[in-house]
Amino acid sequence: MARIIAGVASSHVPAIGAAIDNKQTEEPYWKRVFSGFERSKEWMREVKPDVAIVVYNDHASTFSVEIVPTFALGCAPEFPPADEGWGPRPVPVVQGHPELASHIAQSVILDEFDLTICNKMEVDHGLTVPMNLLFGSPQEWPCPVIPLAVNVVLYPPPTGHRCFMLGRAIRKAIESYPDDLRVVVFGTGGMSHQISGPRAGLINSKFDKAFLDNLTKDPARLTRIPHLEYMREAGAEGIEMVMWLIMRGALDDKVDEVYRFYTVPASNTAVGHIILENRRRAVAKRAPPSKAKRASPSKGKSNTQRAKTKQAAASQRQDRLRSGRPQGD
Ligand code: DHB
Ligand code: FE
Repeated sequence: MARIIAGVASSHVPAIGAAIDNKQTEEPYWKRVFSGFERSKEWMREVKPDVAIVVYNDHASTFSVEIVPTFALGCAPEFPPADEGWGPRPVPVVQGHPELASHIAQSVILDEFDLTICNKMEVDHGLTVPMNLLFGSPQEWPCPVIPLAVNVVLYPPPTGHRCFMLGRAIRKAIESYPDDLRVVVFGTGGMSHQISGPRAGLINSKFDKAFLDNLTKDPARLTRIPHLEYMREAGAEGIEMVMWLIMRGALDDKVDEVYRFYTVPASNTAVGHIILENRRRAVAKRAPPSKAKRASPSKGKSNTQRAKTKQAAASQRQDRLRSGRPQGD
């Protein structure tokens, strides 16, 4: 069966994409930001997911104010980068996973979450910037991606609780998919920021850090934050953080925080990033041995041994990440 192995959250500041495209990543201002993702890229190379589900928001690129779906799932075979005013970003076309996406759509809709199905869609900085931060700038993205676009642009966005419950429904969908796929879920956007109006430039590090702490330890608390509190404490665009709760809802109740990075500012925004892993034992316990594995005991290792080896590899990876825990503040 398919299973979710980890969740990643990352800001999507468009200026980060521009810094990559204009080769400014070595400039001190940007180096501070990019250095926080070096270990994450290593982690991603090691984890090597088979599929990523990227929860993000479209900024009136593929949609417009004429059509504003609350939750839109990308079921297409590919998703080209959108033209956001300066031509499409020079990043690879995102390859989809229509089979798994359709399975998720069916499972989640029958669980009473009314997703919009997108069989054609372009993706903007909301998706491509987090992809660069976690995968670097390869010729081709290393795995297929299922985009899930969430409306956080036009009132009313979904509540944090609704987002969390959708994450749960996505986890159920994935765990009922027969192929052995290892899935990573991205929650993107945030953290505190306000782009326009008298409070433009607002950043609230105290709110952001408490959000990161609770994301790991007490996500139920975050699901009770009302929109007005996000607006007041984290700025108008801080509402993007509800998307992180879809990622968190897709993970187990108890997770290991293996990495965190926070720095201010990048453009007008606080940059936040966290990696949460499902605990290996829980994952191994839920996964029944597949037929192929049961039929070949002579291969040497039992499933329990294999799970133990994976568990050991995961703890080593976590220790490595933690021992070099940087930066930011
Ligand atoms: C900025 C941040 C965003 O999240 C966004 O979508 C657009 C602009 C900014 O900081 O300028
Ligand atoms: Fe944004």
